[in-house]
Amino acid sequence: MTEVVSKAFGAGSDRATRFAELLAVHGVERGLIGPREVDRLWDRHLLNSVAIAECVPEGASIVDVGSGAGLPGIPLAIARPDLKVVLLEPMARRVAWLEEVVAKLDLNVTVVRGRAEEKPIRQQLANRDVVTARAVAPLGKLAGWCLPLLKTGGRLIALKGSSAAEEIERDWDEIARFGGVDPEVQTCGRELLAEPTTVVVVRRAEPTGRNRKRR
Ligand SMILES: C[S@@+](CC[C@H](N)C(=O)[O-])C[C@H]1O[C@@H](n2cnc3c(N)ncnc32)[C@H](O)[C@@H]1O
Repeated sequence: MTEVVSKAFGAGSDRATRFAELLAVHGVERGLIGPREVDRLWDRHLLNSVAIAECVPEGASIVDVGSGAGLPGIPLAIARPDLKVVLLEPMARRVAWLEEVVAKLDLNVTVVRGRAEEKPIRQQLANRDVVTARAVAPLGKLAGWCLPLLKTGGRLIALKGSSAAEEIERDWDEIARFGGVDPEVQTCGRELLAEPTTVVVVRRAEPTGRNRKRR
């Protein structure tokens, strides 16, 4: 595990280990993750999250929508100090946790309380390069919440697992309505994980209010 952690997090490996310890003890006590997750914290959570770093361009501004315990936003921020990361989360209890973790790990990350679809949040967090979301909502709903936060040409990266292709097919109208184009299923972290992370990547074009062709 040490080798893969160091491959994934590089100079941030100690911080990643500290984050795993915080999740295993206080994250469980505070109900942010289930006790059964402790044995699979690295594979299912930290490595699954950091795997998407390969899809994120250098120096990108990112909003992690529905960050919860800090996934995937905190592992990404640890592995990639070049990124400007905002963790967006509506629940006060989780926001308090995120603020504590950011302070304890001394990360250059901003925590914002709110819902992605709220107008003041859209104004505050507009024009990002990348929006990430893991286990937050079905793809169509995510498109409506997340695409408006992106600049034109920016990308939504939704961690989806085996439902990825099906969700694109099912929710295509909604994605297109919010200006999403070129949806793709990608697998990330082949060098890190026996089960790589499956993501849907959707690019934001100018919204037209009408369905557009997929490619
Ligand atoms: C199942 S948890 C997943 C948390 C984390 N992303 C993970 O993978 O462990 C879903 C999170 O999305 C948040 N959430 C739900 N609706 C949201 C919205 N409209 N905008 C932002 N966050 C939202 C919830 O409060 C919750 O923390």
